[in-house]
Amino acid sequence: MESVNIRNFAIIAHIDHGKSTLADRIMEMTETVNSREKKAQLLDDMEVEQAHGITVKSRTVRNYYKGDDGQEYEYNFIDTPGHVDFAYEVSKSLAACEGVLLLVDATQGVQAQTVANFRLAKENNLVIIPVINKIDSKGADIKKTVQQIKKLDPIFEEQDFLKISAKTGQGVHLVLEAIHQRIPAPSGDDSASLKALVFDSVYDSFKGVIAYIRVFDGQIKFNSKLKLMASKESFKASTIGVLTPNMKTVESLCVGDVGYVITGIKDPKAINVGDTLTDEKKPTKSAFPGYRKAKPMVFAGFYPKNNDYAALKAAIERLSLNDSSFQYGLESSDALGMGFRCGFLGMLHLQIIRERLKDEYDLEVLTTSPNVTYHVHIRNNQKIMEVNNPAKFPDFSEINYVEEPFIRAIITTPVESVNQVMKLAERSKGDLKNLDNKGDLVVLEYNMPLSEIAYDFFSQLKSISHGYADLDTSFLNYQVADVVKVEVHINYAKVDALAFVLHRQDVPKASQNLVKKLKYSVPRKLYPMPTQAVVEGKAVARVDIPPLRKNAAVNGEKRSISKKKDLLRRQNINKRQSAQSDIKLTQEVFNSLLELK
Ligand code: GTP
Repeated sequence: MESVNIRNFAIIAHIDHGKSTLADRIMEMTETVNSREKKAQLLDDMEVEQAHGITVKSRTVRNYYKGDDGQEYEYNFIDTPGHVDFAYEVSKSLAACEGVLLLVDATQGVQAQTVANFRLAKENNLVIIPVINKIDSKGADIKKTVQQIKKLDPIFEEQDFLKISAKTGQGVHLVLEAIHQRIPAPSGDDSASLKALVFDSVYDSFKGVIAYIRVFDGQIKFNSKLKLMASKESFKASTIGVLTPNMKTVESLCVGDVGYVITGIKDPKAINVGDTLTDEKKPTKSAFPGYRKAKPMVFAGFYPKNNDYAALKAAIERLSLNDSSFQYGLESSDALGMGFRCGFLGMLHLQIIRERLKDEYDLEVLTTSPNVTYHVHIRNNQKIMEVNNPAKFPDFSEINYVEEPFIRAIITTPVESVNQVMKLAERSKGDLKNLDNKGDLVVLEYNMPLSEIAYDFFSQLKSISHGYADLDTSFLNYQVADVVKVEVHINYAKVDALAFVLHRQDVPKASQNLVKKLKYSVPRKLYPMPTQAVVEGKAVARVDIPPLRKNAAVNGEKRSISKKKDLLRRQNINKRQSAQSDIKLTQEVFNSLLELK
């Protein structure tokens, strides 16, 4: 198709505002999917997406639309995730578009991710079409939503707003019309050397790496020799195609087209999203700058449950290809063997990766307790260590001081729950910077340590506000923190995989809770095992994990005192000799480290 009739756009919104539902309607009204294939949230086809009811991966679909002006248009849209943990997916997708549909739920109005996504679209100089959704709902307040969007950008005028119900289809025709009227056609030079952006990729065990691309200049023909400019990898485009949403082979992809290329490359590391795809013989002069690397916020160790290290390695490499915000490096632990230290954008991201390993690769992993990256200033020299693994935290005698990451948290909550929310934020060491009363909503701004909100702050916030409060976070800076490493000793042996870092003031309570929880989660042995939390060389809490059987020496039948004493003595020797490696660490043990305060 002529590029003047192509439109590339993304659907962006806050979580649950109806992106996937609108995507369904668009595919239906353009007859991209027939009634047999029709089902709700058709594009959220990953198991984890269906289980959580959210979009995790962006999806690209090509549709053909016959406009009221009689012209036929090619609409390539990208359905993007709404949760803050997957914001990186959105930013990648927008680089392939000229415009966006900014969808806002009329019952909720503008929310944290609406603002964040709006800013992303602005940064990418995209045309923004504001669409107000769920107007069929009883609680819809269209007027207020319009006002809130106008506040985001005063450039919007009354006639710019489209009011729809993605569920019933009401108003969606006007959206389809607005797309070709307001979003510009892609511009590019058909006769120039090929310049295409790799905005996503997946690994297929048969076909190798499949790159999702958008052509900016030139064209890709079937069987042409191509080259990735950053990784310098060359290959033949054995198959090229478009997603409708299923894969459909085509002969060529031209300026403005969005599609896929089967590269045949078997090494997942040879291709990076953000790379530029060009002709091998006649490369383009200017490559794309590449994507800014995502900065992981939360780290945790992943270890194979069944000692299947090689399988886990292959799966993690492939997953990171499909999700470039997920990062990993090798790590080993005395108790768990070889594994990976993985970086995530948030806790939901961690959970999703874990579930994807299970669903897509049939691999179960042990996850160590999550932590953030600390800057540890070493005594007597200028060295600063970046520590994201508590086991590697230096000994307290070597530390001058430690800094931890702080974030700015913007919490939007209904007035009724504001007291509870403020209590939660204070408990989490939040420092209130601003309070803004917006009618029935209150916007609170806090500075707080990332470690406090990284784990279960979000779910607590949702539970005390009955799901209505919202959280938006952005990195602030590193600040000096009084934190210490808590080591766990089981049966007099240090278990490195269980170490964690904590604010000193939380240590007494947390360490008591920890040993109590370990008492019931560490698999028992035939002998009692003393379990201690050790801080700066001192045991601060202790509990004895009871033995599997009754202690024969104490509760035994009628034995002479000397025999009992002898048995006790021998048991003591046993205790001290048993090595730490025979303590089996289950996921339950690691879970004991969560929610200690
Ligand atoms: P994420 O991808 O997870 O960010 O969510 P989403 O924005 O794709 O939202 P989704 O399409 O999954 O819709 C969320 C919920 O809102 C679903 O239960 C939909 O049925 C419902 N919904 C979507 N559009 C409408 C609408 O126009 N009216 C009503 N009443 N409900 C809607």
